[in-house]
Amino acid sequence: MKKYRIAMIPGDGVGKEVLAEGEKVLRAVQKVQDEFTIAFAEFPWGCDFYQQHGQMMPDDALQVLKEFDALYLGAVGDPSVPDHVSLWGLLLPIRKSFDQYVNLRPIQLLSDDLCPIKDKQTRHVDILFVRENTEGEYSGIGQIFNENTENEQVTQTSVFSRKGTERIIRYAFDRAMERRMKITAVTKSNALNYSMVYWDRLFKEIAAEYPLVETRLVHVDAMAMYMIRNPEQFDVVVASNLFGDILTDLGAAIQGGMGYAAGGNINPENAFPSMFEPIHGSAPDIAGTGQANPIASIWAASMMMAHLGETKAAKTIFQALKKVTADRRYRTPDSGGSATTAEVGSAVVSEIEKQF
Ligand code: NAI
Ligand code: MG
Repeated sequence: MKKYRIAMIPGDGVGKEVLAEGEKVLRAVQKVQDEFTIAFAEFPWGCDFYQQHGQMMPDDALQVLKEFDALYLGAVGDPSVPDHVSLWGLLLPIRKSFDQYVNLRPIQLLSDDLCPIKDKQTRHVDILFVRENTEGEYSGIGQIFNENTENEQVTQTSVFSRKGTERIIRYAFDRAMERRMKITAVTKSNALNYSMVYWDRLFKEIAAEYPLVETRLVHVDAMAMYMIRNPEQFDVVVASNLFGDILTDLGAAIQGGMGYAAGGNINPENAFPSMFEPIHGSAPDIAGTGQANPIASIWAASMMMAHLGETKAAKTIFQALKKVTADRRYRTPDSGGSATTAEVGSAVVSEIEKQF
């Protein structure tokens, strides 16, 4: 029997609450399917750890995490620690060191009534966003000139390497081949006359390797408009770091809100473990009240099983998730209901048990 080792990093605030539900669901699917086992190890890193030790995670954290098959994260951040400290102290070092260059974000509507757009139903919203996760506009390169003078000037440099650009575009084409054979690349090559012209060129080069896939280049501003007006046009969307960051928040809104948006930070070559998480933060405004929506976190658990090759377990979790999301008794307050985090998690568990 296959055995997976999963590192759990609940982090802070609602991260702890929603991750506990994901763990509950994973234990349930492991039990009923009885074809693999999961060994969970939990690491209490985050802002509490920072208060005691002056750092978000220990010095050897990456060495420790490297040995796992996958990482399952809640959220990090607390009002007592500056956000750039918590982010650069845990999440970003993991993403960068483990070369998790794909940020995979399904924008799928699970129940008609959750969509804020008039007349859009589940069949209209099913987009797979593939966001570049390591370079582009977030390369961290820049300079300030003549600081504190009237000639003050700053630059922020985007970096698009051939290797970095090709690998993300190729990954997106491979996903399109498994789906509806359509891919849209987000660009802005009219204004960004170096970076995005290059992006378009490599997109066209790689498109030639996939003659069966229908391709399209759309400027980022128009993309924002189309995602609201006609989200049904899109299947796989590939975007640079900044454009993907912005458009996936818009995507979260059309799929029902932050409580429904899951993501994977993936190293497709499996040279390092990949990391799965709800994309929301620690939500200090509702932490500790039992009101957090655990759907995104459970969805991330399904993505993690798919990444590990456990397709059946991934589908079982996802089917249960769809059933529960469509049932208005199991709505947390962010979707207008009064169910608790644990009630929603337990409802997903009983749907999983019903499938066996
Ligand atoms: P947030 O995502 O924590 O909260 C934004 C809004 O969405 C709040 O009103 C919150 O109550 C609501 N919300 C979020 N998750 C929810 C859930 N599961 N169920 C119901 N409602 C939910 O973003 P915010 O407020 O900007 O950041 C709070 C903290 O989280 C900060 O310290 C920030 O740095 C950190 N953060 C961490 C992230 C991560 O670990 N990946 C991502 C985003 C923010
Ligand atoms: Mg973001």
